[in-house]
Amino acid sequence: MPIVEAVSPATAAILEEKIRSRRARVGIVGLGYVGLPLAVEFAKAGFTVTGIDISEEKTRRVNAGDSYVGDIPSSTLAPLVEAGKLRATTDFAAVLELDTINICVPTPLRKTKDPDMSYIVSSCQEIARHFHAGTLVILESTTYPGTTDELVLPMLTKGGLQVGHDFFLCFSPERVDPGNPRYQTANIPKVVGGCTPACTRMGELFYSQALETVVPVSSTQVAEMVKLLENTFRMINIGLVNEMALMCGRIGINVWEVIDAAATKPFGFMPFYPGPGLGGHCIPIDPFYLSWKTKQAGIEARFIELAGYINGQMPHFVVDKVQNALNDAGKPVKGSRILVVGVSYKRDIDDMRESPALDVMLLLQRLGGIVSYCDPYVPALHVEGLKLESSPLESAADADCAVIVTDHRAFDYQLLVEKAPLIVDSRNALKGVVSPKIVRL
Ligand SMILES: NC(=O)c1ccc[n+]([C@@H]2O[C@H](COP(=O)([O-])OP(=O)(O)OC[C@H]3O[C@@H](n4cnc5c(N)ncnc54)[C@H](O)[C@@H]3O)[C@@H](O)[C@H]2O)c1
Repeated sequence: MPIVEAVSPATAAILEEKIRSRRARVGIVGLGYVGLPLAVEFAKAGFTVTGIDISEEKTRRVNAGDSYVGDIPSSTLAPLVEAGKLRATTDFAAVLELDTINICVPTPLRKTKDPDMSYIVSSCQEIARHFHAGTLVILESTTYPGTTDELVLPMLTKGGLQVGHDFFLCFSPERVDPGNPRYQTANIPKVVGGCTPACTRMGELFYSQALETVVPVSSTQVAEMVKLLENTFRMINIGLVNEMALMCGRIGINVWEVIDAAATKPFGFMPFYPGPGLGGHCIPIDPFYLSWKTKQAGIEARFIELAGYINGQMPHFVVDKVQNALNDAGKPVKGSRILVVGVSYKRDIDDMRESPALDVMLLLQRLGGIVSYCDPYVPALHVEGLKLESSPLESAADADCAVIVTDHRAFDYQLLVEKAPLIVDSRNALKGVVSPKIVRL
């Protein structure tokens, strides 16, 4: 049962003091790519942090100081755990002790491309069971505009607490860019919008203790929409440049050279690059949260649908390139050995979610190709019809064609060019290398 407290108007002042003095007990729900770095940042800032996750494995590893997130070395995590600044649990009863709660659970799409809110709902139901006055709650999971006010707020007010008075509720979009050494949780500006002005002020105060720049906005809906604008902008521009690649390919122009030259314009142009298709947890998914929502308001998100279609064609385009390159070499794809170089969804990370490499591999396999892969970040793959272990890059010598899908910096590209008889490069990883065996996107 929710605990309803008779609170004094001093609730805000007490919480503010706890946050300023770093005595506030910080909770992070969902210890994944987003939640764990956030937990570490607040622990580093001097707060005592409790991570709550349904995964026994993740909580066990956090408590052992053993990181599973690439951007957080165990050498950063372990001292915080040893110092008692960070611990993890699967038990939501920990909420009883918390002053702040950031929710960082997954928000995937269902097969029908509708938002899957089940993780937000189940975590908020658990939080509500132990909820108490004087708490700041911030939803960070990417979602459609209206989620915080329409879905989360009613679950937290069921016990009679009043938002902006007894507790504070905000939305703050997560902008983490895994594998980016320059911009990490602490120095990426944090947008935050609350249900009430008091909520926004509390959210701003909270983040400013651990993060360099906080950007308050007027409402939770604005904050939710900010994230969708950012990722839709990216998805549509990638769609445009992918279409440009298809057009350039057809009329025999090197699209990479075109983009590099266009990028010399000092204003009004921002380079985006074509590739084998979209991957990851954000860009292929988030815009569909927006189109789902706007459809209900009678507006078709046509740019999103179109870019989604073009981006979805890219794995097929890469496979066509491989097929044509093999044909030109006198080898049908059926029975040819094809080494896929790089399989995670982007360079220098181990995340396979929505990776276009999976589509490329499955399509090649369906055409009768004998597919292997090389990826230092992904030692083994077991998805759909594929069960493979990473091969060394040298195995390109035994392949009929290598196809670069993810351009990890760790690859020895010179070695690849020496060993592989034929290379399809979907990322311009071999920029500047002149060889008749290279086929570019
Ligand atoms: N990964 C990114 O680069 C990125 C960037 C920006 C925004 N986001 C958004 O942030 C959110 C989280 O993404 P992520 O990449 O960290 O996901 P993730 O899958 O890496 O982590 C989510 C964690 O939540 C846990 N979880 C699931 N249900 C739970 C529940 N009911 N209670 C407690 N824990 C639960 C999972 O076990 C997992 O550890 C998503 O909405 C995503 O769209 C992700």
